Amino acid sequence: MTGGRIIGWGSALPDKVVTNDDLSALMDTNDEWITERTGIKRRHIGGSTASLSIESGRKALFMAKIDPASIDCLVLSTSTPDRAVPATSATVQNALGLRCGAFDVNAACSGFVYAYVVAHGLLAIGAKRMMVIGTDTLSRIVDWSDRGTAILFADGSGACIVDATPDAGQLLGWDLDADGSLEHVLYAEIGGNLRMDGKAVFRRAVRIMVDSARKSLHKAGLTIDAVKLCVPHQANLRIIEAACRQLGIPMERTAVTLHETGNTSSGSIPLALFDAADRGRLSNGDVVLLVGFGAGMTAASAVIEWRQP
Ligand code: COA
Repeated sequence: MTGGRIIGWGSALPDKVVTNDDLSALMDTNDEWITERTGIKRRHIGGSTASLSIESGRKALFMAKIDPASIDCLVLSTSTPDRAVPATSATVQNALGLRCGAFDVNAACSGFVYAYVVAHGLLAIGAKRMMVIGTDTLSRIVDWSDRGTAILFADGSGACIVDATPDAGQLLGWDLDADGSLEHVLYAEIGGNLRMDGKAVFRRAVRIMVDSARKSLHKAGLTIDAVKLCVPHQANLRIIEAACRQLGIPMERTAVTLHETGNTSSGSIPLALFDAADRGRLSNGDVVLLVGFGAGMTAASAVIEWRQP
């Protein structure tokens, strides 16, 4: 069976940093409330989905030291495409010098894990090398007069190159889930702002993350004790803590970057994963659990065995 392994990665965050204090000058909020309720201290705002994807994708190509023309397909996860048509992946494909198919995936904040799993499907039927990117620029669709959402969402991107392996590869188990009956709790109409019932999202988020993580672990034939690092979607520290408590994984074995980034949706899990890798938190053979949730309401998880490039 053909599998895949990550051979290079890159991240991109806009230069402009917006702190909680900056937000409190714009709306009725304050650093103490945001920190206590979410864990977020600052976020990066700016750029387009294409520009951030091009930056993270270029870094991934550089790290992997490969010819862009050797990539067989680009999968870009985003729920904030730059245009309705064509897909943002087309702009990114051209700018990076790729000579292959390119398409967008929208599974909201679970999107990067969806894209990563879909890439393995293509590897299983003959692709040799995939590029997977997760990028969102939610600041463009946030209602800046709504303190319930404006404090949470921000912009960012993470990219990786996944090469085919002759063995089963590093993806040990995965789960993709959605419940469209809950689409009203978090949505944005075409051209409209993001609308959210924060409490309803919070209530479900913990349960669907835990369920999805357990399904992936079961498929991998592993228990939570085997997990060296959990990389959850960076939406809210309280959601992460509650999910980790239920899963039985201590926070010391959990990646948290949201205090610096806010919720970057598709960018969230790759940014946290590659931040951990860049900080030397991952060694060859470590089991890593990626788990996210988002509008839709989607959930997605993947158990991977880290293979140091
Ligand atoms: N600053 C200051 N006060 C605020 C505020 C803000 N930004 N937002 C709300 N408040 C106030 C409310 O008006 C309310 O005041 P009241 O008690 O006088 O009525 C109080 O703070 C509590 O508000 P509440 O909405 O109950 O807070 P909460 O603990 O549910 O936290 C969220 C709100 C949005 C942080 C939380 O519900 C959440 O994180 N939900 C999940 C959202 C999410 O992750 N979305 C992304 C999914 S991918």
